[in-house]
Amino acid sequence: MPRARAIVFVSGTLPGAGVTLLRASCVVVQDDEGVRSAAFAACRADVEAVVVLLTDRIDAAFLEGSPRLRVVANVAVGVDNVDLEACRARGVVVTNTPDVLTDATADLAFGLLLAAARRIAEGDRLVRAGGFIGWTPTFMLGARVHGSTLGIVGMGRIGQAMARRARGFGMHVVYTQQARLAAGTEAELGATFVAALDDLLVASDCVSIHCPLTPGTRRLFDADRLARMKPGSVLVNTARGAIVDEAALAHALEAGPLAAAGLDVFEDEPRVHPSLLARPNVVLAPHIGSADRPTREAMADKAIANVLEVLAGRQALTPVS
Ligand code: DGY
Repeated sequence: MPRARAIVFVSGTLPGAGVTLLRASCVVVQDDEGVRSAAFAACRADVEAVVVLLTDRIDAAFLEGSPRLRVVANVAVGVDNVDLEACRARGVVVTNTPDVLTDATADLAFGLLLAAARRIAEGDRLVRAGGFIGWTPTFMLGARVHGSTLGIVGMGRIGQAMARRARGFGMHVVYTQQARLAAGTEAELGATFVAALDDLLVASDCVSIHCPLTPGTRRLFDADRLARMKPGSVLVNTARGAIVDEAALAHALEAGPLAAAGLDVFEDEPRVHPSLLARPNVVLAPHIGSADRPTREAMADKAIANVLEVLAGRQALTPVS
C-alpha cells in the first residue's frame, strides 16, 4: 500500500516555484488567511507540516489542535511568532530563513538611514505639495551620514551587512551584543565592540537595531534609553517593532534628542502608532526589509525545502535551535 501523501498547510501566497514542487509529493492546502482560516481548521487534525508567515501565531494551543504536526517552517528569519519551547516539548521542528534575506534587509536599513537623516521622504512630500520654492542655504538641513558614527545593536548577519555598507560611507562603526565577535571579524568589519548599550547610544550619531525580539529586548528602547541618545541622532529599526516604545519614540522625535527615525516594523502591524503618523521626521515603511523579488522567492524556497527534508525523515536545513 503506498504511503498516504502528507498534508502540508501553506499560509498565504508565496512567490517562486516552491509550492509547485511541494504539490508533487504532498497534499497542499493553501489560504491567504493563514492559520486563522477555515481551510486550516478543516485540515489541522491531519496536517504534518505548516509553512507559516510572521503574521501567524504558533503557540501551545495551536499545537494542541494539530497532533500530527512535525515541522513549522517560518518564512522569516525572526521567530518571535512561534513558541519555540512549546514546539520543542512536542518534538515539532521549527525552521526559519536565515542568510537569504541578509543583504536585502541591510539595503533597506541603510536606505531608511539615508532617507531619515537627509529628509528624503519629507522632501518628496514637500515637492509634491508645491512647497519647493527655490534653493536657499538653510533649506531642509539634515543630519550628516558620511563620516559619522553608526551604532549597531545586534551584530548578527544583518548587523554585519549593515556595518559593511556603513564602511562604504566612511562611517565609524560601533556595536553591542551579548557575545563579542572574533577579533578577525571585528577587524574585517572595522567595528568596535561596546559592552553597554547606554555607552553605544552616547557615542552614536545613528543607531540601527538588528537584534531579535525576545523577552529581554522587548521595549529595549524605552523613554529612558531614547532620552540618552545623542542630540540630533537618527534611529533605524528593521528588526521588530516591539523593541521600541513607539509613543516614547514619537516624543523623542518631537522634543528631542532624536532628529529623525526610519522604521520598517511596528509593534502592532499593520497598525502604526498615531503619534508616529503625525511626525514629519520619521520615515515609515510597510515591513519591506526582505521585499526584493529574488529574496522573497529564496525565503519561500528555503521554507519549503525545510519541510521536504523533515517529511523525508532528514535533518532540517535551517532549524532554529
Ligand atoms: C524576517 O525575516 O524576520 C523579516 O522581518 C521578514 O523578512
